[in-house]
Amino acid sequence: MIVSEIKKDIYGIIVNDWDRRLFDGLIPLPDGTTYNAYIIKDKKNVLIDTSDPRKIEKFMSIVKEISNGKIDYVISNHSEQDHSGGLPAVLSVFPDAKVITSEKGAILLDRLLLIPSDKFLKVQNGEEIEIGERRLKFFHTPWVHWPETIITYSVKDRVLFPCDLFGSHLATSNFYASSNDRVYEAAKRYYAEIMMPFRGYIKKYLDLVEGLKPDIIAPSHGPVHNNPEFIINAYKDWVSDNVKNEVVIPYVSMHGSVEKMVDYFVDKLIKRGIAVKPFNLTITDTGQLAMALVDAATVVLGTPAVLGGPHPAVVYAAYLFKILRPKTKFASIIGSFGWGSNMLKVITDMLPQGIEIIDPVIVNGYPHKDDIDALETLADNILKKHKEL
Ligand code: FEO
Repeated sequence: MIVSEIKKDIYGIIVNDWDRRLFDGLIPLPDGTTYNAYIIKDKKNVLIDTSDPRKIEKFMSIVKEISNGKIDYVISNHSEQDHSGGLPAVLSVFPDAKVITSEKGAILLDRLLLIPSDKFLKVQNGEEIEIGERRLKFFHTPWVHWPETIITYSVKDRVLFPCDLFGSHLATSNFYASSNDRVYEAAKRYYAEIMMPFRGYIKKYLDLVEGLKPDIIAPSHGPVHNNPEFIINAYKDWVSDNVKNEVVIPYVSMHGSVEKMVDYFVDKLIKRGIAVKPFNLTITDTGQLAMALVDAATVVLGTPAVLGGPHPAVVYAAYLFKILRPKTKFASIIGSFGWGSNMLKVITDMLPQGIEIIDPVIVNGYPHKDDIDALETLADNILKKHKEL
């Protein structure tokens, strides 16, 4: 746990979860994560978000100490339980506290945590409340990454509390993020896994955030940004429509045919000056794959035939590709079958709508000379498409 006074009477509480390795039963956490909450001490004391129930005892002890046993408001920027799961414990210790949230937040907190309706103070977009010397302003920012999400801004202090937005799954001994590769990498992984499907919304919210000119951005995962430009600029790049001259190749090979194709294809792309990121799906960290999808112009899925269709691991990768909604412009498929398969149709039907499909290369058995030539043509076609961008 790290506690730091980020501005006069504003305390950040970073609760490290060094050992957590999976989030939502889905997202790998190679660097653990943190659950961050904040306390503002003014005429009214305010707690901003809580903690995951995994860490609630430690969290409550520090909240009681910093608040001197007085919390008037608890702001729930986001109802997911890694931030709201501590609410029942907080309300049992501070029974008079009101929970500030959006209309949708109140519905979700009722459904998820059985918080009684009389506890809520629902705020509208742009609404402000005065807590003494300070005004807190609330903005509705739905879909980062749930429909109820809001962000809170302390106008006087110029501190923004955006909950999940701008976060990173990175357990840390440093309270503040410095502009280093480790934080950048963790924030990009987090964006790819959690925020990328909502790129269009985030674009709009970046304008809002920039307009506020925050001095500090205090998210609810990972280090706090005392250089907001660092994370705002990174997000601007990620949410932009610009793609890089890169090909991502998620693949599986069973008996070496697809591996041979991928091997050859990778070399041919590199020869044409295209960056390549192959991912053998039997050993791939899906977070790394998601991160690669943030920028790449093209995705080529490689699959062998299994029971008449594509390999299940490739189906999983294609499904992730579709639901993560990256800005990828082109896709293709390479694969090998023994005696028949509808894998091409199955995978093609799963690709994101609107993506341009470049002629695939499906071979019977081990790749022969004409198959190798077809891979060469695919590499040429990809280069041509990338040049047209
Ligand atoms: Fe960190 Fe969407 O919860």
